[in-house]
Amino acid sequence: MKTTYVITFILILFTNIVYPNWIPRKENNKSANICDKLDEYVNSPYSEEQFLKYSDIKACYELTSYNKTKAIQVIETVKEYFKGFYALLDQAKENPNPGFALRPIDLISELDLVLKNNYSYEYQFIYDVASLIEEMRDGHTKLRSDVYYKYTFDQGLSMYSVIKKDGTQQIKVFNDVKEPSNVDCQVIDIDDRPAIDVIIEFARDHTFFSRDLSARFNSALASLAFGNGDFSIAGQLFTYRDQLPKTPSISYTLNCNGKISKITREWQVPIENVQYESPYISGTSVGNATLIFDAFIARFYILQDFGVVLISTEDIINSSWDLEYHFLSNIVAGFKLFADKGIKKIILDLSNNGGGNIFIGNYINKLLFPNIQNFPLDYKVNDISIPFIKEISRIKKGIGNIFHYKSFLSIKTKASFDIVNDFIGNNIYTRGGVQVRYTSKAFHNDTTNYVGTFKLPKPPKFPWTEKDIVILTNGLCLSTCAIITQRLAEINVPTIAVGGFPNTRFSFAQYAVGDVSSSAEIQSLLELKNINSSLVSKLSLPSNLTLQFTLAEAYSIKNPNEVMDYAYRPADYQLYYDERSARDPSCLWIQAAEYFGK
Ligand SMILES: *[C@@H]1O[C@H](CO)[C@@H](O)[C@H](O)[C@H]1NC(C)=O
Ligand SMILES: *[C@@H]1O[C@H](CO)[C@@H](O)[C@H](O)[C@H]1NC(C)=O
Ligand SMILES: *[C@@H]1O[C@H](CO)[C@@H](O)[C@H](O)[C@H]1NC(C)=O
Ligand SMILES: *[C@@H]1O[C@H](CO)[C@@H](O)[C@H](O)[C@H]1NC(C)=O
Ligand SMILES: *[C@@H]1O[C@H](CO)[C@@H](O)[C@H](O)[C@H]1NC(C)=O
Ligand SMILES: *[C@@H]1O[C@H](CO)[C@@H](O)[C@H](O)[C@H]1NC(C)=O
Ligand SMILES: *[C@@H]1O[C@H](CO)[C@@H](O)[C@H](O)[C@H]1NC(C)=O
Ligand SMILES: *[C@@H]1O[C@H](CO)[C@@H](O)[C@H](O)[C@H]1NC(C)=O
Repeated sequence: MKTTYVITFILILFTNIVYPNWIPRKENNKSANICDKLDEYVNSPYSEEQFLKYSDIKACYELTSYNKTKAIQVIETVKEYFKGFYALLDQAKENPNPGFALRPIDLISELDLVLKNNYSYEYQFIYDVASLIEEMRDGHTKLRSDVYYKYTFDQGLSMYSVIKKDGTQQIKVFNDVKEPSNVDCQVIDIDDRPAIDVIIEFARDHTFFSRDLSARFNSALASLAFGNGDFSIAGQLFTYRDQLPKTPSISYTLNCNGKISKITREWQVPIENVQYESPYISGTSVGNATLIFDAFIARFYILQDFGVVLISTEDIINSSWDLEYHFLSNIVAGFKLFADKGIKKIILDLSNNGGGNIFIGNYINKLLFPNIQNFPLDYKVNDISIPFIKEISRIKKGIGNIFHYKSFLSIKTKASFDIVNDFIGNNIYTRGGVQVRYTSKAFHNDTTNYVGTFKLPKPPKFPWTEKDIVILTNGLCLSTCAIITQRLAEINVPTIAVGGFPNTRFSFAQYAVGDVSSSAEIQSLLELKNINSSLVSKLSLPSNLTLQFTLAEAYSIKNPNEVMDYAYRPADYQLYYDERSARDPSCLWIQAAEYFGK
């Protein structure tokens, strides 16, 4: 009955693809429809296809027409989930901090409005609902369809942004698999409009990995990410999309050393990917930085006289306890090696870290600052959520589950709640102009997650204080990554964000929340004994749809009434990418080292 607390928020790492010529396939099965054929291309070991065509996928999606009866059921169910569990539903109606690119949204009424539209196909409806939910710009909260998000559409090129010495900003080609000679050409126009405007508009309206526009702008473009034991291209959401793009191609006007040319790229879906290789990175070094310890999800480098720790994720493959123990022990070992070598200053580079297990974040914080407190949290309390809290709290072995009262410590007593009703509490807050009930504020009891598994490795006492560490991110430090960086920032560890717009400090992290859940997780709990059958039918989504949502909101320790998700926390300092540093993070580390103790 133990569920892991994994905040599954993985920033997909994108790689590039080989494009040989399209090899037409023999059409030999008249009864197979276009969707079956696409599956066969992808899955058959004998398939000669290297990529799928935009028009074939569009034809596949258009096999299913819009059915208003089904649409109404989807909307009604999604509304029930949000009303029952979505901790931020009412706060989203308030005017957000002006630092965020966000409008106030009454999600429940706007979901009803979607039904007023006329759609020809089911996918158009699903995309509209998904896009509306994404307007919350809450990376934890999204609707996904197994069917309509199955493929990723690629342009075969990626772009990035540099700030020139005179302060002007340019979009350039980061990597081009089809025509490598385009690399570092300036992108002047996209579909005949200024490239920078097109990217900003796309970041504002079609991405949701931050509430801050600068971080979203970074996510629309390519950046280098460490992950899975290697470096690759992350982000590039403008040229690498999971929704069927509206048009079959995009045109780019390029300036390559004064020569202007225009190229057009069709959307294609690659079947196999190959890794991007930066010329400045090898297995044992990044620029002049030397790798001294590889902890798989983290790497430890030494550059000049300081240390650099890259942490790529807090997610453990297959939620394996063995791996988790292994990774945590290795992270301790890496820091110990730094201490043994007399390293006095450390840069934590958590760029493109998409989060993972909350307990790993809490562990890393305590590793560096043993007396640090976790962010407290609470859940929404209502007719839909109470049965889950009560029912799971009756299960002895349920301790550790996100609905079990014994998984938490009261912030008042710092001890476990005596009875479930103490956890449920009676706390009413005014949010978005309405009174909303939440549980008593609580901390995760970190040890409940590990009961019956392993004893957490006990770290030595490390010499570093907040004056010896700086945090560097590209703004895409999400979920559990934000639990690390935003908590450390609250105890005065300096923060630096790289990228964004000239002279515009921006959020270094986003979505430090308490817990995340999904319709798939709730579905498995609907089988519990005393869950009312009317609740079961209210919460049943078609199995090809999954709704994920923020279940628990976290509160600042510094400003105890501030909900972290809506706290605008710009970095203390800003750095920019140039042609070299975008491909060689050691250049950024040298610049970041200026800010130790500032
Ligand atoms: C033709 O396609 C259909 C639908 O995918 C499949 O059920 C059938 O087995 C295929 N027939 C052959 C001969 O491959
Ligand atoms: C629409 O969906 C409903 C419910 O699943 C079904 O009964 C009805 O036949 C469908 N309508 C059409 C036109 O397919
Ligand atoms: C929706 O489409 C149907 C069929 O094309 C049409 O009869 C109806 O008037 C449309 N409704 C609206 C609100 O546009
Ligand atoms: C690496 O070190 C060499 C020798 O000290 C120096 O010339 C070079 O500029 C350094 N490279 C970077 C990217 O800092
Ligand atoms: C994770 O699970 C999958 C499927 O069960 C398996 O194929 C894979 O090898 C596992 N990975 C690791 C690292 O254990
Ligand atoms: C946290 O949970 C563990 C395991 O259930 C329990 O032994 C421990 O007393 C709890 N911690 C506190 C401070 O109550
Ligand atoms: C289930 O809930 C409904 C509506 O909330 C209520 O009318 C009904 O009595 C409940 N049934 C049981 C068995 O508790
Ligand atoms: C998804 O599942 C629902 C319910 O089973 C079904 O009505 C719908 O057509 C499915 N969509 C696709 C594209 O398979």
